[in-house]
Amino acid sequence: MIRLANLTKDFPSPDGHPLRVLEGIDLLLPASASLAIEGPSGSGKSTLLGILAGLERPTEGRVEVAGVDLGTLTERQLAAFRARTLGFVFQAFHLLQHFSALQNVVIAAEIAGLPDPLPRSREALARVGLEDRLDHLPGQLSGGECQRVAIARAIVARPPVLLCDEPTGSLDPANAGKVFELILDLHRDLGTSLVLVTHDPALASRMEHRLRLERGRMVAA
Ligand SMILES: Nc1ncnc2c1ncn2[C@@H]1O[C@H](COP(=O)(O)OP(=O)(O)OP(=O)(O)O)[C@@H](O)[C@H]1O
Ligand SMILES: [Mg+2]
Repeated sequence: MIRLANLTKDFPSPDGHPLRVLEGIDLLLPASASLAIEGPSGSGKSTLLGILAGLERPTEGRVEVAGVDLGTLTERQLAAFRARTLGFVFQAFHLLQHFSALQNVVIAAEIAGLPDPLPRSREALARVGLEDRLDHLPGQLSGGECQRVAIARAIVARPPVLLCDEPTGSLDPANAGKVFELILDLHRDLGTSLVLVTHDPALASRMEHRLRLERGRMVAA
C-alpha cells in the first residue's frame, strides 16, 4: 500500500525563492494496485516518483510505502528499504555499460541481499525473454532489450512495489508496446504494486487508478 498525505515539495531556485514543485498531494493506493501518473512536462511527475522511492524527501507531508513511514528512516535505512522493497525502471535504462546483461541484474540481486543471486538473475532475464542475451553488453543490445534488462534488474528481488518513469518513452512503438505489456504481466503475475509515469493516455487507461498533475497539484484525470 502507498499512502501520501498533504505532500509538498520545494526546491531551492537560483533566485533564492523556493520553487514549489508539488503541493497538497494526497493518495491512497491499495497493495497490488496499479497507478498512472500523468501530466505535462515539468508538472512534478518524476519528483513525486523520487519521493515515493525515498530518493527525495518531501518538504512537508507524510509518505508511507509498503507499510513504512519513509520520514522515520535514516539515509542508510532508506537505502536498505529501497533495495528490498522497490524496483525502478527509467526512460533512459541506466544500465552499467561495462557489465553484461546478466552482471547488471546480478549486481542488483547482490545489493538486495538475495542468497542465490546468479540463478535468480538468470530466472529474471528469462522472464523478460532474454535468456539468450545474458553475456551481451548494453551497447550490443537493442533499446527494447536494454529496457527488458532494466526490468529484470528491477524485479529480480521480487519487490512489492515497481516504480516506472516513462519506461517506454525512448522506444519505438513496437518495442514500447512489448515492454509495456511485459510490465503489466509482471504486475499481475507477481502481485507487484505498479506506479507508472506516462504521457500516453492509452497506457494510462490500462492502469486501475490515474492521477494527473498540473503545476504540482492533483487535478481530475
Ligand atoms: N533538483 C531540482 N532542483 C530544482 N528544481 C527542480 C529539481 N528537480 C526538478 N525541479 C523542477 O521541478 C519541476 C518538476 O520536475 P519533474 O522532473 O518532476 O517534472 P516531470 O513532470 O517529471 O516532467 P517531464 O515530463 O519533463 O519528465 C520542474 O520545473 C523542474 O525544473
Ligand atoms: Mg519526468
